[in-house]
Amino acid sequence: QIAELINGEIPLEEWPAEFFEVDDNIRKPGLLLNSQTAQGEALKAALARGFKETLAEIDKSGLRGRGGAGFKTAMKWRFCAEEQQVERYVVCNADEGEPGTFKDRVLLNSFAHQVFEGMTLCAAIIGAKQGFLYLRGEYLHLHGKLQATLAERRASGLLGTGILGGAVDFDIEIRLGAGAYICGEESALIESLEGKSGIPRNRPPYPVTSGYLGRPTVVNNVETFYAASAIAVHGGDWFAASGTEKSQGSKILSISGDCAKPGIYEYPFGTTIRAILEDCGASDVLGVQVGGPSGTFISDQEFDRKLAFEDLATGGSFIVFNGNRDILAIAHNFTHFFAHESCGFCTPCRVGTSLLRNQLDKITGGHGSAGDVVALEEICRLIKTNSHCGLGQTAANPVLTTLERYPERYQSRLKKISFEPGFDLDGALE
Ligand code: NAI
Ligand code: SF4
Repeated sequence: QIAELINGEIPLEEWPAEFFEVDDNIRKPGLLLNSQTAQGEALKAALARGFKETLAEIDKSGLRGRGGAGFKTAMKWRFCAEEQQVERYVVCNADEGEPGTFKDRVLLNSFAHQVFEGMTLCAAIIGAKQGFLYLRGEYLHLHGKLQATLAERRASGLLGTGILGGAVDFDIEIRLGAGAYICGEESALIESLEGKSGIPRNRPPYPVTSGYLGRPTVVNNVETFYAASAIAVHGGDWFAASGTEKSQGSKILSISGDCAKPGIYEYPFGTTIRAILEDCGASDVLGVQVGGPSGTFISDQEFDRKLAFEDLATGGSFIVFNGNRDILAIAHNFTHFFAHESCGFCTPCRVGTSLLRNQLDKITGGHGSAGDVVALEEICRLIKTNSHCGLGQTAANPVLTTLERYPERYQSRLKKISFEPGFDLDGALE
């Protein structure tokens, strides 16, 4: 039956429930996962402190967006609050599509109250009345549970009109994605929320200025809202006390691949890759893909590098590869992924990702020449510098980061040309 499921012969809605009973597998909780707060605690703390003062605490905490890019959260919320338009929106990006990332699924499965509380806190601060949780289509199995959590919050006065007897009115609607990776890009997500195809918009204007229905909108990752609710309770100093000067607090990672203990880990920023590999029981490691296919493949020479926005940033994906893995097969797999997920809107990415895929098919198949590697690099450069959105701009990363670190592995796959003794090569070339 698993083959039928994976081959798409059985629609997702009809998959057996037990298939989704996945253990959260939290191996190493840290600052945030150890600091679970009670329902309503963050909102009560914010009401007591004042919403302006709570924004100041979030500012002090140094919290930056946990989707991967690391934009300052307090700045984003302030920009949105300062916009002149009356209607504002809060959107939680739960379209967790980066291969190797599953920490948002765990947060939504086990800590949804805190995620919704973070969204409500944001709404109170920026003055929004409506929020959306944009849930990855493949997380359909969480839909019922999340709806029940929302109903519970409405019944407890934590959502709806006059939240906690105060002046804040806010509610959250869950919208399901349909499986497109590009809808994790915030402006494509907003297009999808509006009922259109998920094609990224030009930015600027950023969503804080012109988002859902052209109104000021805060879009943040699940983990960002989760962290904001913890900061409202424990304060900015509590969060800022760990991490590095430029990357405060901790990061929740989804660790997978060639390691004895895959699962969810939380580390203060500044932790070395080596320390993480020791914890997850990885040995004979060839390299680690930090940040998923759009991130960086680092080799065993770089394991003293640090998890931090200023060094190795990740939305949460951390995939370990051991010495038995074929580096070209890894790049090949990721390149096929991007060619499949390109939304097709702009030519450099639509055509470029297919050319890259074909070129890598040729080289990994042993049919490439030295000139094909040069062409490969040229295609990478074209996609990276001319694509409309982040997908295209990062689609060449798997090739570029592996080619830079392992040129000899690409060279060794090229077609071997041999000539009969006495063959007149110069004559043939003339
Ligand atoms: P970005 O740097 O363009 O923007 C980050 C955030 O800051 C956005 O919300 C944007 O609206 C906001 N922002 C940036 N400049 C602004 C300004 N001047 N004024 C107001 N707001 C501003 O990054 P982007 O393209 O949104 O996201 C790329 C990141 O997403 C990458 O780091 C990538 O690794 C990560 N990613 C994460 C995935 C996941 O599953 N979590 C999937 C794919 C990519
Ligand atoms: Fe679509 Fe790719 Fe262009 Fe982004 S870069 S708009 S995903 S075609």
